[in-house]
Amino acid sequence: MINNLNTPDVVVKCEWSGNRANAWDTDGVKRTSEITTACRQKAADGGYLLGRFTNKGGKTYWKKWDGEVSVNAPNTTENSVVDVPTEHAEILNFIHTSYDLKPKGLMMSELKWKYLMRSAVRGKNIMMTGPAGCGKTMAAKAVVNSLDRADYYFNLGATQDPRSTLIGNTHFDSTKGTFFSKSLFVEAIQTPNAVILLDELSRAHPDAWNILMTVLDYGQRYLRLDEADGSDTIKVADGVTFVATANIGNEYTSTRVMDKALMDRFTIVEMDVLSEEDETSLLNYMFPHVDSVVLGNVAKIASLTRSESNSDTARITSGVSTRTTVELCGLLYDGFNLEESAEVSIYPQYDNTGGVDSERTFVKQIVQKFCDDGSSDDLFNEDEMAEAEGDAS
Ligand SMILES: Nc1ncnc2c1ncn2[C@@H]1O[C@H](COP(=O)(O)OP(=O)(O)OP(=O)(O)O)[C@@H](O)[C@H]1O
Ligand SMILES: [Mg+2]
Repeated sequence: MINNLNTPDVVVKCEWSGNRANAWDTDGVKRTSEITTACRQKAADGGYLLGRFTNKGGKTYWKKWDGEVSVNAPNTTENSVVDVPTEHAEILNFIHTSYDLKPKGLMMSELKWKYLMRSAVRGKNIMMTGPAGCGKTMAAKAVVNSLDRADYYFNLGATQDPRSTLIGNTHFDSTKGTFFSKSLFVEAIQTPNAVILLDELSRAHPDAWNILMTVLDYGQRYLRLDEADGSDTIKVADGVTFVATANIGNEYTSTRVMDKALMDRFTIVEMDVLSEEDETSLLNYMFPHVDSVVLGNVAKIASLTRSESNSDTARITSGVSTRTTVELCGLLYDGFNLEESAEVSIYPQYDNTGGVDSERTFVKQIVQKFCDDGSSDDLFNEDEMAEAEGDAS
């Protein structure tokens, strides 16, 4: 079902909401999660429309569309975005039908998704935890997208100066003298019902944790602006929901250990690492043009490395993440074979020191079991491989 390459099958208009540029199609369906941030931001600033096109390979992509089309205003009654209900019966109904709001491309169990939605409508502070590349940020963004509320995104892992990101800066002007300019975060917490994403909170500077301590406390809910003249504190508006993500697991020793008091302020939603079966269906869903036997092998490789890294006698410290399997399959789609794809996407993540005893050698052995020619030298005996495979099931 390949479309005419010159005509888009969906056209969207991009509009700012908080610090995010959301994309709405002509039916009022929110398409934000399908389009890259930079593309949406440019379209919102440039005031042009984006169209979804299909290339010869059957893959879709978005670009500027100048053609004639009438774009409706955002329609909040559409089922991909919903008003947040208030009555208990309505809330019950909302939570238990909310699985339809989960994007198809996000693999997450129904129970976990509903728990996440329930925590969001109940105004809980949510913390998504799990190892790297398991979908924490994706799930957090999906919740934010599913609720028709102003949303703000802050990547705290990338912030060098928490004070200016979360509070603001003091400036000097020759006419006005010293004055204080508030951060976008201050605007965000003063917006009733805003959903505020605090990505990579576990990597944030401890100063950021200290600043957030009172903001996240249900009994306090204020931000202290110690630099500001006059007002000392800013109240968090009613209905504001925080969704944070954190890498928490014993392999993340480089991530600062988060303060217990801060953790206590959150409802934890643990993202599950995908099973081999779920990984296979995700890869098949995302890469319908790639041989499904090869996709199945990629899922097997990931699953073998994951169970090995969890075993008592682990020879590798972490398993291949879903982020990596998705990247690897993108290479397969672009014509690289499994061996080549693994070489550039998987191996660099594993330590090469120690020669035949290195982590990289171990992972190579697993991958080579699934490569076509099978001619490579085996450094492990069959028993060892059988043991690794046995652990996976
Ligand atoms: N459960 C999942 N369902 C669908 N895709 C997934 C899932 N987990 C990971 N992915 C894929 O991996 C990519 C990275 O996921 P994401 O950024 O959400 O990981 P993360 O858990 O936030 O990782 P990090 O700890 O490094 O921040 C996604 O863009 C997606 O392609
Ligand atoms: Mg993330």
